[in-house]
Amino acid sequence: MSKKPVRVAVTGAAGQIGYALLFRIASGEMLGKDQPVILQLLEIPDEKAQNALKGVIMELEDCAFPLLAGIEAHSDPMTAFKDTDYALLVGSRPRGPGMERAELLSINGAIFTAQGKALNAVASRDVKVLVVGNPANTNAYIAMKAAPDLKPGNFTAMLRLDHNRAASQIAAKIGCAVGNIEKLAVWGNHSPTMYADYRFATVDGKSVKDTINDHDWNANVFLPTVGKRGAAIIAARGLSSAASAANAAIDHMRDWALGTNGKWVTMGIPSNGEYGIPKEVMFGFPVTCEGGEYKIVEGLPIDAFSQECINKTLAELQGEQDGVKHLL
Ligand code: NAD
Ligand code: LMR
Repeated sequence: MSKKPVRVAVTGAAGQIGYALLFRIASGEMLGKDQPVILQLLEIPDEKAQNALKGVIMELEDCAFPLLAGIEAHSDPMTAFKDTDYALLVGSRPRGPGMERAELLSINGAIFTAQGKALNAVASRDVKVLVVGNPANTNAYIAMKAAPDLKPGNFTAMLRLDHNRAASQIAAKIGCAVGNIEKLAVWGNHSPTMYADYRFATVDGKSVKDTINDHDWNANVFLPTVGKRGAAIIAARGLSSAASAANAAIDHMRDWALGTNGKWVTMGIPSNGEYGIPKEVMFGFPVTCEGGEYKIVEGLPIDAFSQECINKTLAELQGEQDGVKHLL
């Protein structure tokens, strides 16, 4: 018997990331090749954006995806999020060359108050929310705070792109297949302060840290490369990352919904006090997922260098949180 369709809301559906994301969701790459989906697509009411959305919808129709059970175009989050089971909040301004992601807070913050309220009012009570729009952690925090009737844990921020970038840099350094790297963690904010931590990582069962055995490379090459990768892409393309961001969003939602089989992944989630991170801070943690729930990997030792890195990214997030108090 075929499964009942689930509702997937995507905001910013006519944008760059939207274009790299929707076709993969509709083909079953996110929720499984046996899971029909209804896409509830949100764009701003502006005529140009709504027309662009119509064009994307025509292309989705022309793919004749067997799993695509319906497509809706919306200009109001109150209708776009109705009964939605999954919400990918992408729509917002990307940064341009020379900007930091935190500079987008004043531009994008208000979007996430309105969308958090709408999710609170009309989404499924079990909705799984992924915030992609930058600054992703603090936008997710804003949306969570605007949705007091939903469980805080249903709001997450995208750190998966940093996780994938870190894995790829390690694979290139060691000369191994990226898929063989396990137990990688990225702590904190989706910003240059994030701490990509390979102390526990293994490749084919061998310790990555021992194999690399080079603290200078870690501190002076690896961390800045991963942390500033978004800016490097903007400098090279003139536009922010899109296909890799969409890919990370698919990875994040797929793993959350379908499980990781014990594998560690990174998700930005509200802290419950783990590792000394104050409650509700939307922080990147290593997690495993099973049965539609994520669980923080607990009990990892934190050495002095790691603590310093974690403190720095936490301080930045708390500063961002302070800066949006007026929106809450
Ligand atoms: P884009 O400008 O190509 O598309 C954004 C789309 O969002 C536009 O079509 C715009 O009309 C729409 N939009 C704006 N406000 C909206 C609202 N209130 N409701 C619905 N739609 C709205 O941008 P993009 O390249 O797709 O990037 C989108 C966001 O994702 C940016 O904030 C970018 O910085 C962020 N991003 C995050 C990560 C991450 O790892 N977390 C990675 C890449 C990009
Ligand atoms: C990225 O990391 O590529 C995105 O967050 C876009 C950006 O502004 O860096």
